[in-house]
Amino acid sequence: MAGAGRIDPWSSEQSQDYARIIDQFGLGSIDIPSIPNPGMLHRRGIVFAHRDLDVVLGCMKRSEPFGVLTGLMPSGRMHLGHSMVIDQVKWFQDQGADITVTVADLEALATRGTSLETGRRTAIEEYVLNYAAMGLDPENTNVYFQSSRPEVQRLAFTLGRRTNLSEFEAIYGFEGETNLAHVQAPLVQVGDIIHPQLDEFGGLRPIVVPVGIDQDPHIRLTRGIAGKTHWFNVKPRHKGGVTVALSVQEGNQDALGVISGKVDTDSRQSLFERISSALSPLGYSDQIANQKHGTLEIPGASIDDIPRIRMCLLALEREMGGMGLMPPCSTYHRFAVGLTGDKMSSSQPETTIFMDEAFEDLERKIKRSFSGGQPTIEEHRRLGGDCSKDVAFQYLQFFFEQDDNALLEIKSDYESGRMLAGEMKQACIDKAWEWLQELAERRAMWSDRLDEFLAPDAL
Ligand code: TRP
Repeated sequence: MAGAGRIDPWSSEQSQDYARIIDQFGLGSIDIPSIPNPGMLHRRGIVFAHRDLDVVLGCMKRSEPFGVLTGLMPSGRMHLGHSMVIDQVKWFQDQGADITVTVADLEALATRGTSLETGRRTAIEEYVLNYAAMGLDPENTNVYFQSSRPEVQRLAFTLGRRTNLSEFEAIYGFEGETNLAHVQAPLVQVGDIIHPQLDEFGGLRPIVVPVGIDQDPHIRLTRGIAGKTHWFNVKPRHKGGVTVALSVQEGNQDALGVISGKVDTDSRQSLFERISSALSPLGYSDQIANQKHGTLEIPGASIDDIPRIRMCLLALEREMGGMGLMPPCSTYHRFAVGLTGDKMSSSQPETTIFMDEAFEDLERKIKRSFSGGQPTIEEHRRLGGDCSKDVAFQYLQFFFEQDDNALLEIKSDYESGRMLAGEMKQACIDKAWEWLQELAERRAMWSDRLDEFLAPDAL
């Protein structure tokens, strides 16, 4: 559906040209030293890009609340490809985040014809069970279903007013033939991503969404829509500092001091007083107000203050009757290559390893996996293997070998030819089996406690 240069969240094809993606879509690169207690996926460059992650890092540093929102498609079996996001979710939880998990049962119904009952069963027995086994703490994890959270659906409708078919065409490449399920699902996903900020779900705080790059179109859509609702825009000021500009729109004219299309001096005056007092905790003495134009310049503010200025003004917007929505933050991980060297996909079982894979299947799949070894042992000893092509090595790197030094040693043994391709595969099988067995043990511990993960409206 999506043409050149677009990302199609419903396609199994995915560009691996990550540098181009960062460039084209304006993502930030991950700066590993700025991340506290970096996880394995950070240290290895597998989580490679973000939007506004610094906002969340600031919350961690100041011990302020922030949340994670993640979503699962309740169809098929959970496999390694799905585990990367959960690894990230757990890392954020360890750094203090509260966790909301969307079961995209409406999306599965609309785009795959999965019934809500089947979706529910799959979500709990297959996904939530493995999330528990991977170490998510039920204490601050809330799993909900799209179909049973009216606030999410209400947001999908309310925020749908802020976009149109042209934008969907630009983002997703939609045409006349596009099934409307593909219009509905992203709007519900906008509701998913935004709703943890509602007062009844934890209130105004940054929400980070860790995803594969295929989901970025939804993040872009959500961020764009959230931005359009803002009553106060906060931007870097040309002459240094920060400018706050009013965004007068349908529904906020009274509140922003516009009466019958004209600026009302008295109400503007009191509005600017409210703005100043909302910003007073940040302590800027120098403020240049242009009430008629609806701008407030703060020369003494720095670019790094923008997230906190925004936060104060979103809180004010809420007090005044606006929605006060923060655009979501996001992180992106690289995709692990499929075992066969093609794309990893649950509909092609030989390309991936399922969370409950049997030993014989695991062994067969890895033994047949795409190798970076040389055609003969003699050549391999002389030239060494290629880790960048070797799937067994990459699975140790992405999933199974937690120890960085052990991984480096394997890499140098392989590249020097000391380690043979068959030995690499065996090392991967051994580590993978250890990992899978541990997971199975922890599944057994949690299997009758899954209700603890469900939000009250999901029970
Ligand atoms: N669209 C996602 C998928 O195909 C599922 C999903 C729904 C989701 N809502 C979400 C993912 C919110 C992340 C955040 O897997």
